[in-house]
Amino acid sequence: MTAADAPAAPIKDSPHHVETVLWVRHWTDRLFSFAITRPASFRFRSGEFVMIGLPAREELGEKKPILRAYSIGSPSFAEELEFFSIKVPDGPLTSRLQKIQPGDKILLGKKPTGTLVLDAVRPGKRLFLFGTGTGLAPWLSVARDPNAYSRFERVIVAHGVREVAELAYRDFFTSEIFEDPLVGDEARAQLTYYPTVTREPFAHQGRFTDLIASGQIFRDLGLDQTAFDPEHDRAMLCGSMAMIKDTAALLETQGLTEGSNAEPGDFVIERAFVG
Ligand code: A2P
Repeated sequence: MTAADAPAAPIKDSPHHVETVLWVRHWTDRLFSFAITRPASFRFRSGEFVMIGLPAREELGEKKPILRAYSIGSPSFAEELEFFSIKVPDGPLTSRLQKIQPGDKILLGKKPTGTLVLDAVRPGKRLFLFGTGTGLAPWLSVARDPNAYSRFERVIVAHGVREVAELAYRDFFTSEIFEDPLVGDEARAQLTYYPTVTREPFAHQGRFTDLIASGQIFRDLGLDQTAFDPEHDRAMLCGSMAMIKDTAALLETQGLTEGSNAEPGDFVIERAFVG
């Protein structure tokens, strides 16, 4: 038998990178963050999501790894990849993922994608980033990207949660980002953090939908307007299906149109992923 007759060796082009956990931070019994190493070939735009997961446990008879889509919380140029996750006690992935430790291996998809990117919104003056729960994750990326500040005069990160304890990254948005060597100065001048809580007393209270409909959010931000201004205001939405549906409908009644990568618009949406 010649070499030419030999069966071709199977081409093993794995769909995933295998990366290493660098750190883990637990915020509450329902929320945690972690970071993994970034492969040199991995490119993405700030605000995109990617599949991540854990290898199959063959000893338990698992045949396939479990993967879910997660927003990347790091900006496009970062050396590590940060993620913000919910913990679901019986969730197929997060019940295991919440136990990861530095040094553990994580699978990382090779095709980051998504619409919560600066390129999918038209130029404007103000960029409103609305996230509920772990839907804050893409704003960790966008708010650390200098392009956000060169394209918009003002960037507003609005985080909606049920309880005060769920305001993860509060210290980050109220102080740490101002020390960032790359965007600290811009953030100090142009970034506003707007946390709102629905089931406990807090400085800002209520759902995004109610705060927008009543005009309260604009008053709180010191803006001389009672609704979104389609000429100058742009928005991105990330969170539960219900929040996105209701908030998007409200933005549309105020004259904003939804955009995409193919056709940039006044606002873009993406569901935050759970489970
Ligand atoms: P609420 O406490 O009134 O339900 P969740 O943890 O369920 O994803 O919710 C996160 C935040 O999003 C909560 O403050 C919740 O308010 C709010 N929320 C839930 N559904 C909607 C909706 N349809 N429109 C606006 N905000 C919503």
